[in-house]
Amino acid sequence: MARVVLGMIGLGTVGSGVVQLLAQHKHLQLKKIAVRDLQKERAANPTCPITENVSEIIDDPEIEVLVEVMGGEEPALTYIRRALEKRKHVVTANKEVLAKHGPSLFQLAREKGVTIFFEASVAGGIPLISTIQRGLGANQFAAVTGILNGTTNFILSNMEEKGLSYDSVLAEAQRLGFAEADPSADVDGHDVAYKLSILAALSFQRFVKPEDIYREGIRNITPDDLALAKEFGYRIKLVGTARNTDPKNKAGALAVRVHPTLVPLAHPLAAVSGSSNCILVNGDAVGEIIMVGPGAGSLPTASAVVGDIINLESALKLPDFASYFQPSITSEWSKTASPDDWTSPYFLRLSVKDTPGVIGTIGTIFGEHKISIQSIIQRGVADRRATIVILTHDVRSGNMEAALADLKKCEFLDSVASAIRIYKAA
Ligand code: NAP
Ligand code: HSE
Repeated sequence: MARVVLGMIGLGTVGSGVVQLLAQHKHLQLKKIAVRDLQKERAANPTCPITENVSEIIDDPEIEVLVEVMGGEEPALTYIRRALEKRKHVVTANKEVLAKHGPSLFQLAREKGVTIFFEASVAGGIPLISTIQRGLGANQFAAVTGILNGTTNFILSNMEEKGLSYDSVLAEAQRLGFAEADPSADVDGHDVAYKLSILAALSFQRFVKPEDIYREGIRNITPDDLALAKEFGYRIKLVGTARNTDPKNKAGALAVRVHPTLVPLAHPLAAVSGSSNCILVNGDAVGEIIMVGPGAGSLPTASAVVGDIINLESALKLPDFASYFQPSITSEWSKTASPDDWTSPYFLRLSVKDTPGVIGTIGTIFGEHKISIQSIIQRGVADRRATIVILTHDVRSGNMEAALADLKKCEFLDSVASAIRIYKAA
């Protein structure tokens, strides 16, 4: 087997797993690792030298592959660009860099005749990217939907199943190494937005700017929401979707969104707990594929990184192999559809004063905005205050926003405690 010389930036959760797995693949020679702080204690004990000087890797002509597992936008972007300029192949787990700079990075890789491998950037250990790129290559895709963030799924499952507090479960996810360096990336939905941008690029050949992706995180989900959802036959999940609104038009708008969603208990997404991910891919030839597995963590993510390195190594000596692995992604950003036009049923939890006429007024306002109520109950009457829980039929999001704005003008309304969409197949 040919020897491949690697240099790696990052020796944290993922980098440590990569070191552990590479020890079983002696022909993949990890020559040097760059870190930020040489004094730090490490979970892994690599046999190669460690440096604080990234240039010792990027400027080393013997190193053919840069493994970037440091994360964040900068300086990772600069390092990846410098490596591509020097005609090094790149294996990265960095969804933020790819989502924000994918078009220019893939363009640069094409110009230099090298490749970027990025299996670990979406869904951790699940081989989702190679499945969409190659295994499902004969399909036109209608939509990709799923649970794409391990940390938030871990938080929601543990809050619901064990009654633990949001803060304590987030701290546990950080300890276990699932959470991003800044956990706001997880809990506010940025991480899923980055992953959706990458999945849109693979499925519909165009990246979506992360700032154009509709995004709501899980900070406002309370134990009351989780318990009430269960009572009505649902589980709350952070679900991301990228859907082609106009499959006949190659430049048509994509509907790309991440938000908490009430998923029916019988749906496969509802059964996915802990840090696992679950993705539903709809192809015109294959129908629906469901992939479930570990979405984060040291060894599952390293499995994807080292899998990429092994793929790369097996092809490295073939002539012009890079063009085979370069994904066909345009360098234009995609247009996105207005979130106002999406439709789905809603779950609402309203905190109100317990006075006559409240339910009648809510019904009138909803009627004016073409919202049909499927179910309505009043709960927890105390201190002349009550909670009203409403499930609606399919509603246009713009109409729901307008109805909630009108409700907020009513004297009886204390707050719209929750307004969460109910799952609807993409
Ligand atoms: P991490 O534990 O925070 O490790 C980051 C590593 O990068 C650390 O070793 C750090 O060095 C090094 N680093 C940071 N800035 C650097 C710089 N400027 N120069 C040199 N080294 C630098 O992060 P992680 O969880 O392993 O995540 C790494 C990447 O994988 C991210 O893109 C993340 O989104 C992605 N990812 C993570 C998971 C997961 O489960 N954790 C799953 C899928 C994808 P020091 O140790 O000296 O601070
Ligand atoms: N923080 C991410 C997650 C890591 O929790 O899913 C995997 O991408």
